[in-house]
Amino acid sequence: MSPRLLPLVNVTGPHGSRSRATCHYRCGNACDKPMPNSSGNTPMHEIIAQVLSRRAVLGGAAVASGAMVLNPLLGVSPAQAATGERRRGVQNLTFTPVPPNNRDVVSVPPGYESDVVIRWGDRVLPGAPPFNVYQQTAAAQAQQFGYNCDYVGVLPIDGNPDHATLTVNHEYTNESIMFPPGPYKPIQVKRIAMMAHGMSVVEIKRGRKKGSWRRVLVDNAPRNRRITIDTTLRLTGPAAGHPRLRTSADPTGRRVLGTLNNCAGGITPWGTILSGEENFNQYFDASGELDPRYTESYERYGITGEDTRGWSQVDDRFDLTTEPHEPFRFGWIVELDPSNPRSIIRKRTMLGRFKHEGANVRLADNGRAVAYMGDDERGDYIYKFVSRLRHRPGTGDAAKRHNLKLLDDGTLYVARFDGDGTADGVYDGTGVWIPLCSATKSFVEGMSVAEVLIDTRLAADTVSPTAMDRPEDIEPNLVTGKVYAALTNNSERGTTYPPDEANPITSSMVRSELGAPLTPASGNRNGYVLEWQENGNDAAARRFEWNLFLVCGDPDAPETYFGGYPKDRVSPISCPDNVAFDSAGHLWVSTDGNALGSNDGLFAVPTQGTNRGQVLQFLTVPLGAETCGPLISKDGHSVWVAVQHPGESDDATFNNQVSTWPHTNRFPRPSVVVTYRVDNQRIGV
Ligand code: FEO
Ligand code: CA
Ligand code: CA
Repeated sequence: MSPRLLPLVNVTGPHGSRSRATCHYRCGNACDKPMPNSSGNTPMHEIIAQVLSRRAVLGGAAVASGAMVLNPLLGVSPAQAATGERRRGVQNLTFTPVPPNNRDVVSVPPGYESDVVIRWGDRVLPGAPPFNVYQQTAAAQAQQFGYNCDYVGVLPIDGNPDHATLTVNHEYTNESIMFPPGPYKPIQVKRIAMMAHGMSVVEIKRGRKKGSWRRVLVDNAPRNRRITIDTTLRLTGPAAGHPRLRTSADPTGRRVLGTLNNCAGGITPWGTILSGEENFNQYFDASGELDPRYTESYERYGITGEDTRGWSQVDDRFDLTTEPHEPFRFGWIVELDPSNPRSIIRKRTMLGRFKHEGANVRLADNGRAVAYMGDDERGDYIYKFVSRLRHRPGTGDAAKRHNLKLLDDGTLYVARFDGDGTADGVYDGTGVWIPLCSATKSFVEGMSVAEVLIDTRLAADTVSPTAMDRPEDIEPNLVTGKVYAALTNNSERGTTYPPDEANPITSSMVRSELGAPLTPASGNRNGYVLEWQENGNDAAARRFEWNLFLVCGDPDAPETYFGGYPKDRVSPISCPDNVAFDSAGHLWVSTDGNALGSNDGLFAVPTQGTNRGQVLQFLTVPLGAETCGPLISKDGHSVWVAVQHPGESDDATFNNQVSTWPHTNRFPRPSVVVTYRVDNQRIGV
């Protein structure tokens, strides 16, 4: 069969540019359900100021023409900046951008090459049989690379610079295109799909070309590991052991089987991997009679109705009438040490429970660990954690033992973004981190520490944080200290949620397919990249200054803004999802759900200097896929991405595929890809 074009997606409906299949399988059709956040958190002065100034300023297209907007953080002339940046060693991007396209390949710039490193079904553990899509079993899948790879973390293996561990999240499954009709009973499909979730750790070694990598044969890879729904993880931190975390299988409230819907993540300064449990709600059957004590909590987390995946038919711990506490054991940040295949994997309750996109850690001036986290739901919040203990430098066992305590004790904050009005022509203002609890003290009236951590969304609702347009990945730029968050989109901004200066767009220009005209759609369809600087550039500060660095979309659309860079010299970008930095301080942004008719991609953007805001597309992924897990290696020679859900489309089936990428089979296989330069030089610069 030959791959065919994606069917047109109704980009103006509530699901935006995502296929219905992605909505169904990934988040359990969250957009069809009431917005879980009904707390109405947007300060009224913000709403009024925004509505008035939006009419006055944006109607006059002040923001629309990049040239009219002063770069708020640069504050110097281009000539001064160019001299200054040469002194500071600011580097320009040099690759030829990849144009928007609908090709069923990974497209990279001229002079670059990309290799598939590992695919769904490839062997991870020595006992794994070779992948055979017609003869899958749960036991086989539990030893093979899982489906829908998302986060990608690469850590060198001690003492051997040519070997590394590749840690990958497997967010969810799409049974429609994974399983041929015929060989499998529905219950088998569910069992196999359950094992295709979780995480993988895979040992890799350098390839022949500088920046290329390949898998180590599984028999020689003792660190290889699969984490599945049957793997025992430990709950740690202040909420561990709480009665609400206890089940009939685990009366201690400290041992959980599995991790679910693992989306993005991060590498800690002490060499572990963090992974976010995101849309965990959809795995639980809430259609029976529910324990009235938990109704409010279930609803706030979208745990409503039947489990769209039917896992309760396999294991009754996913049925709330049997195990009302089981969903409280998911929705956490998971910490994994890939250097030791027997290491305990921990769910860190101190970092709160919500639909965690991921977490990225940096160290504050005083050595405390600071984690930034987004709660990916329309109208939900941005969080920060600051540890009580200080990071201990070094790679020895004593330092590691100490640093593994950092995420169990500290203070959890939620963010409020105050605008200064848009009469200044930019979306910007100040912000404050509002404390929710420490390990020993709750700052939310009527809720204990454990309750704040288990029902973090309900706790945050009481302190008036800013309801954001789906906060995704958040990462600090270690070159400048500024922090960047992807706010992917919100079709209901302007209707269910009033605009504010940090979430200003209520009407966006989209297109149904490449070459089609731009048409207006309600809400924020193309997303933002938000930039902030903590006061004193100290990660542990309680206040910050923020601005919208990118208002994404087509450069021809009046609402878009690219850090002040001329709009006729940037790549169109839509629905930013994950962010990363190279060692030169360039921001890399991957997208999920392009509302401009192109395949999703990965983009690089200078964040300082005269080219600040120059968005250039570095690669595109195949049909139906999103670009995940971008990681730029420290040495600057490798760009890693996960190609998630290639071929996912409303009417795709196993026998009627939209994509066959990576073209090793007659069906698509989500895979991890590494891109490098043919001339052995560093990426991008
Ligand atoms: Fe799994 Fe927020 O994307
Ligand atoms: Ca402003
Ligand atoms: Ca994501």
